[in-house]
Formats: sequence, C-alpha cells, structure tokens
Amino acid sequence: MTEKLIRGRLLSFRRAPLSLTDTESYAYEHDGALLVTDGRIAATGDYAAVKAKASQDVEEIDHRPHLILPGFIDMHLHFPQMQVVASYAANLLEWLNTYTFPEECRFVETDHAARIATHFYDELLRHGTTTAVAYCSVHKTSADAYFAEALKRGMCMVGGKVMMDRNAPQGLLDTPEMGYDETRQVIADWHGKARCHVAITPRFAITSTPAQMKAAQALAEEFPDLFIQTHLSENHEEIRYTCELYPEATDYTDIYARYGLLGRKTLLGHAIHLSEREADALSETGAVAVHCPTSNLFLGSGLFPMKALTRREKPVRVAVATDIGGGSSYSMLRTMDEAYKIQQLLGERLNPLESFYLMTRGNAEALSMADDIGTLEPGTHADLVVLNAASTPAMKLRMETVKTLPEELFLLQTMGDDRAVVETYVAGKEMKSSL
Ligand code: GUN
Ligand code: ZN
Repeated sequence: MTEKLIRGRLLSFRRAPLSLTDTESYAYEHDGALLVTDGRIAATGDYAAVKAKASQDVEEIDHRPHLILPGFIDMHLHFPQMQVVASYAANLLEWLNTYTFPEECRFVETDHAARIATHFYDELLRHGTTTAVAYCSVHKTSADAYFAEALKRGMCMVGGKVMMDRNAPQGLLDTPEMGYDETRQVIADWHGKARCHVAITPRFAITSTPAQMKAAQALAEEFPDLFIQTHLSENHEEIRYTCELYPEATDYTDIYARYGLLGRKTLLGHAIHLSEREADALSETGAVAVHCPTSNLFLGSGLFPMKALTRREKPVRVAVATDIGGGSSYSMLRTMDEAYKIQQLLGERLNPLESFYLMTRGNAEALSMADDIGTLEPGTHADLVVLNAASTPAMKLRMETVKTLPEELFLLQTMGDDRAVVETYVAGKEMKSSL
C-alpha cells in the first residue's frame, strides 16, 4: 500500500453554485489535507484530523499556501491538431480545409502519432488537466497512440477514432464499413483498459454520409454505455451546408436524432446557434452542449448562450472545453476567462464559483463520472491540480488586495495560465514536476 498526505487549501464543489455567496455549494478547508492511498483519496478535511488517520511514517507534501482542487477536465479537443493551433483563417470551413484536414492526414504515420501523443499529454498535465475527451484522426493508429499514452500515465481519458467518409482529402476518409470495423477494434483494444474510455466519433454530418451515420447508429445500439461525440451548429455556413446534405431533417440537431445519436452520453461540440426546438431536443435526451469559448472567438463562430440554455424551463446540460486546435489555449483557466467574456457580451454574468465548478465537478457530471473524478470526495481518484494565484509578478501584486476566495478564483481565471499550475497529480502521483 502506498500512502501520501497532501497538505494545502482544499476546494471541492458539492453542486452547481447558485450565486457568488452560495457557500453551501462547495467545501473549503483553509488548512486541509488529502490522505491518498493507492491512488485514491482515502480521507479529506482538516489537516490535523486527516493526519491522525495516516500512518506514522506517511510521506507528507506541503503545498501551503496554494489551492488544491480536483484536476481540470477538458471535454472537447483534437489530439491531431497540436500543430494547427494559431492557423490564420476566415472561418471554420476555410480553417478545416486549408490547415486541419491536411495536418490530420499525417497521423497515418505511427511514429508521428506517437510523438504528438507524448506532447499532447505533457501539455495537458502542464496545464492541470487530468481528464480529457478527444478526437483522434480517422486512422486507427492515432487512437492506438492516444490510448497507449493514457495507459502509460494512468490517466482517465475518453477518445475516439474519427469516422468520416466524405468532403475531406482522400487520405482522411474511411468508408461506412471501415469506420464501423475500426471503431469496434478500438473498443476491443482499449475500452475499459485501465482508465480508458472509447467514444463513438462521427466527426460531423458534413463528413459522414447517411450510410456512415447508420454505422454510427449501429455502434451506439451495440455499445449503449459508450460516449458519442460529434460537432453541432458551430457556424452559419456549416449549418446551411449540413441541412442541404440532409434535406429530410427538420434541422441540424434532428439529423443526429434520426440516427439515434442523442442521449445522456452524447457530447456535442459548440452547439452555438440552436433553435428553441433544438434546445428542447437536447434537454429531453440529456445530450450535453460542450462550450468551447476560445475556439468560438478565434474562428469567429459566435457567442454560446450558456446562461440562457441552462436556465430554460427545459435546461440543456452544458460542459466546457478548449477545442484545441480551433481553440487557442490548452489552459482551462484561459478557457473560462473567455467564457466569462462571452457571457459579458451577451449581458449575462458567469461567476468564478460557477467557472471552477464547471472545470471540475460540472464536467465530471456531464460525463456521469462525478463518483470517480471531479471532486475531492473520499473514494475518488486523487487527480488533482495545485494552483498559485500569485504565480506572476502582476498576479502577486494583485493578490495583495484580494480578500475572499471568489476574488482569488476570479484572479486565477482572469490572469492565470500554466504558470499558475504548481503541480498536477494523477492518481496521487506528481506529474507536472516530473515532465
Ligand atoms: N467541425 C468538424 N470538425 C471540426 C474540428 O476539427 N474543429 C472544429 N472547431 N469544428 C469542427
Ligand atoms: Zn472540435
């Protein structure tokens, strides 16, 4: 048995905060500790009380005065797009065709996929992200590289081989049969291995023929416990073209509904421009709209009405994500800074408690995994991020006037990045400092 006592200021959410003064929504320990046994949290709370439960010779790590939170969860990004970040394009479709599709073609090479996978996990850990949900490329080898690296690092990761059989370069196309067979093979090879979860991943309706959508539906029926991820209503031109390709569907959302792809395990990237009917459909099926703020601003896609969607009579489940490489930062802190600004432009408020809830427990709930990740509750994996709100000279100076926890969180979100991440733990193991 390995045992570790991690000391610091602890913050973990119990539920979504209703306001800035909703102190019941979270647990905070000023001098707290986590007792970690074999990678899981065995006890959490006041330092003295938790230390009393540990063995005499327990290894002790003192992170005071830093904050210890559950590791960040990134609900949507593209592993083969690390070298696409910061590509200059007018809009989504130009960006996909000019930069993204050609780049993803390179992942047919096993060595290239393995090299980028190493960098991918390094970057997640440097930014305090301990779980992510990613698209691989169309090539099965890319999914193999992605999960092999997750396994090596003991991380809880969701991912899928992309299914796409039209409207892209030849080197990036499968067929309905190949997409089905290779996804089955990825499931057989990786799903349930350590902390790996496979997602059925038809890229979006533009790049899948009706026959391929049927193949995705067959997979969803055969493997009902798997996640399904795709893109929805990101850009007006994309929406127009998509509806042209599926004229029988009522709207973009209805295409996925017709192929049985909407449910509580469905993660829909972007979902910016939804009609009331589409929002109802998401709400009724429990599908999750995944907000990707840096990407939506970078590609000029639009302003995601997060607040409006969550306070509807029929609320839509939402999650937050970087969307690398359409997104411009690996940092969930930078991501929530942009999410805040988008709500500002819409005349809405996103308070820092909500932001930190979303990056941790909120995203875990969107994955139906809050019993395992996203909190500091005993029994969950010790996936942690340690944050320093005085990590740069400017932040240190600003911290002099910070008086409350929400103010500190807001500073972290507004000015913080990977420099604010002092350490990242995966199953109780220090990962960032050993990169
Ligand atoms: N829609 C289909 N594929 C993609 C992608 O790779 N990135 C983004 N942002 N949108 C997409
Ligand atoms: Zn995406």
